[in-house]
Amino acid sequence: MGEGHLPVLVDEVVTSLAVGPGSSVADCTVGGGGHAERLLEATSPDGRLLGLDADRAAIAEAERVLARFGGRVTLVHANFESLYDVASEAGALPLDGVLFDLGLSSYQLADASRGFSFAADAPPDMRFDETAGVSVNELIERSTERELAGILATFGEERRAGRIAKAIVAAREAGGRMTSAELAAVVARVAPSRPGGADAGRIHPATRTFQALRIAVNREVEVLSSGLAGALAALAPGGRMAVISYHSGEDRIVKRFIARESRDCIEDPLPPVCTCGHRAQLRAVTRGVITAGTDEVRRNRRARSAKLRVAEKLAFERTARGGPST
Ligand SMILES: C[S@@+](CC[C@H](N)C(=O)[O-])C[C@H]1O[C@@H](n2cnc3c(N)ncnc32)[C@H](O)[C@@H]1O
Repeated sequence: MGEGHLPVLVDEVVTSLAVGPGSSVADCTVGGGGHAERLLEATSPDGRLLGLDADRAAIAEAERVLARFGGRVTLVHANFESLYDVASEAGALPLDGVLFDLGLSSYQLADASRGFSFAADAPPDMRFDETAGVSVNELIERSTERELAGILATFGEERRAGRIAKAIVAAREAGGRMTSAELAAVVARVAPSRPGGADAGRIHPATRTFQALRIAVNREVEVLSSGLAGALAALAPGGRMAVISYHSGEDRIVKRFIARESRDCIEDPLPPVCTCGHRAQLRAVTRGVITAGTDEVRRNRRARSAKLRVAEKLAFERTARGGPST
């Protein structure tokens, strides 16, 4: 499958999920199987791992890497938005641990035919699941300048969204289909890094554009929210979920989900007497986020932007005053 993929924050994930022999664990983004391998070792000799990935090539790679664990592993080509149903069909419920390691793998980035990389000499596809939805190429062909600008502003927090969208539409009208490398060059031409700016020379000027288009075609915001809700429903009381995100938009969704599910009343402002009926089901295990140390970042560039959050499903439903309900 090309170059190797080093799992990010792997010791921190295994320790904070606190799984052991006999545990039932779901790796919702099994990828090249790096985290899964360590989780299977930690749950040896009889723990089970359910691995999901939206990418068929990732499932094939995970099958190869995890073959030595035999019947302890079930791999399913699926989007993690259907985690609960997949886990139910696999007989894996309730789960003691759930991991999401979001985004794309080094394998996907290195495969030029997928178009994830700024250097790829192929049309930008950027779908995790090449059998579903529309590619970035199709999205660019179908969208108006205004729609493209909206995507770049919303999912990429790109301040120069309007200028970039205009240039992409002009390039599309002049020359038809672009490769990823050509798309990156169009963006760099109209929105170059500012000389002397904080990101100059470190981050490609098309980073936010590529991120936004990838998030749009993979419906990443929507599926992450469904995936987290599915994980909460699938966890056993006392079970834990760990989420590694790589950009602020993703981390915000995770942070807000954990905050909301850790509260009893979710009315805003808080009324004197709660009428919403919402009850806390989670507690945050990590204070803030866990990030990679300098040694790991030196070994693995992907680790530099990683943020890990961990939460535990409460062993009982609390009443509004914090005690167990009867
Ligand atoms: C960062 S990689 C995971 C690497 C893995 N932890 C390892 O150690 O090898 C992310 C993986 O998640 C998959 N993915 C992204 N979004 C997904 C989704 N909504 N459902 C299922 N898989 C998804 C990608 O296809 C990719 O293989």
